[in-house]
Amino acid sequence: MKILIINGPNLNLLGKREVNVYGNQSFESFFTAVQNKYSNINLEYYQSNSEGKLLDKIHEVGFTFDGIVLNAGAYTHTSVALADAISGITTPVIEVHISNVFKREKFRHHSYISPVCVGTIAGFGLDSYILAIESLLLKETENNNSPS
Ligand code: DQA
Repeated sequence: MKILIINGPNLNLLGKREVNVYGNQSFESFFTAVQNKYSNINLEYYQSNSEGKLLDKIHEVGFTFDGIVLNAGAYTHTSVALADAISGITTPVIEVHISNVFKREKFRHHSYISPVCVGTIAGFGLDSYILAIESLLLKETENNNSPS
């Protein structure tokens, strides 16, 4: 099983950025722990601050990977282009947020990508990514067990 975690803008600053909201762990150290936990799956990680590069990555993996876990950061609330990219691929995308965006400013309550993602997980800190991976694994198990 191949899963790609994609982080959007400013998420390279995790561990240093607004630690009261996003915690003090860097994504790199979290990702190493996640890779160890899920050593049976091919788990990759990509981060970019550039909207175009995020689109390119989604296009690149979106027909071959089994799942994308996407934290689009602030582009969640602004990007029709990201929503179109997700609509255009076949790989299922799970939207994640570290913080509970609904407890925060009103402009964070709207997501352009929610309607084109399988589902959204928000507010569980970095565990939001684990829950997203688990949801993809559940789907995979269901698909393998369903009669064809
Ligand atoms: C975020 C929430 C967004 O509103 C914000 O712009 C981010 C991070 C989260 O993970 O909680 O950059 O996606």
